[in-house]
Parts: sequence; C-alpha cells; structure tokens
Amino acid sequence: MRLMPLALLASLLPLAACLKPLPDPVPSGAEDYATYCAGCHGMEGRGDGEVGASLGKKPADLTQLAGADGKIPMARVMSKIWGYTKDANGNLMPSFAPLLDQEKMVLFDSGDGIPTPTPLRLVQIAEHLQRLQARDE
Ligand code: HEC
Repeated sequence: MRLMPLALLASLLPLAACLKPLPDPVPSGAEDYATYCAGCHGMEGRGDGEVGASLGKKPADLTQLAGADGKIPMARVMSKIWGYTKDANGNLMPSFAPLLDQEKMVLFDSGDGIPTPTPLRLVQIAEHLQRLQARDE
C-alpha cells in the first residue's frame, strides 16, 4: 500500500512536463490599442481620450483614416507609429517600443505589394485601426 502514492506520482510526471510555462502570450491589437492609444485617441478612436483633452493638439480622429475604398493608408499609419518611436523629441505621442518587438515578426504587405518583415504587434494595431473605421451606411 505504501507504494501507491509513488506510483501515482510517477503517473503524474508526464502531466507536469506539459504544464511548463508558455512564452508570454502576445496581446491582441485591441488590447494594445487600449493600453497605448485609447488614452488619447479614445476607445472608439474618435480622438476623444481623456489624456488627449489636455494636449495642445487634438489627437487625430482615427475613425476617419479610410479612403474612398474603405481601407486605411497602411503605410502612412504604420510609419506614423513607427516614426514616433524613432524620434521621440517634440512629438506628442509617446514611444511605442513594446509594439515594435523585433522578436515576433510577420511578413506584411502595407500596400506596395512587397511583403516586409514587420513587428506582429504593429500589424495587429493597424488591423485594429482598420476595424475602427467609421462606416457610413
Ligand atoms: C499622448 C497622446 C497620444 C497617444 C497615447 C497616441 N496618440 Fe496618436 N496622435 C496624437 C496626436 C495629438 C495626434 C495628432 C498630431 C500628430 O499627428 O502628431 C496623433 C496622430 C496620430 C495618427 C495620425 C493620423 C493621420 O491622419 O495621419 C495616427 C495614425 C495615430 N496617432 C495613431 C496612434 C496609435 C496607433 C496609437 C497607439 C499605439 C497612438 N496614436 C497613441 C496623440 C496620441
């Protein structure tokens, strides 16, 4: 009888091996937007966030980015976010370094037909902005 717990333990070992911690999950575009953008641009992207109200310049209304084809100008939007990180001085938006995590890259075509390695979280934020576009029905 005293051996029983040992046998039980042994049978649980393979299970324990499956429980080793997974790498940090990547936040979704919506989560990153809420963390890094909504304070100024507002949850719905209308430029009405609480922090934004205290700035000298009104945050852009991100629901109006789409052109006549309903698509947002991906290259412009992404270089805007990326550019702020590169040149933080004198800019109103903070640095978004975590969004530019080079460890998780995906091939992304921002409209020029050339898939380019791009940080996954930046792509996800851009896709979230696409979903925020005002639809006039
Ligand atoms: C501290 C406030 C603040 C935060 C946080 C912020 N923004 Fe902005 N954003 C602004 C302001 C102010 C402008 C307009 C002035 C400018 O372009 O610098 C702007 C402009 C923009 C534009 C340009 C729109 C256009 O028509 O070209 C984009 C795109 C944008 N923000 C996206 C984002 C995204 C995505 C995030 C989150 C990753 C974010 N912003 C976070 C304040 C902010």
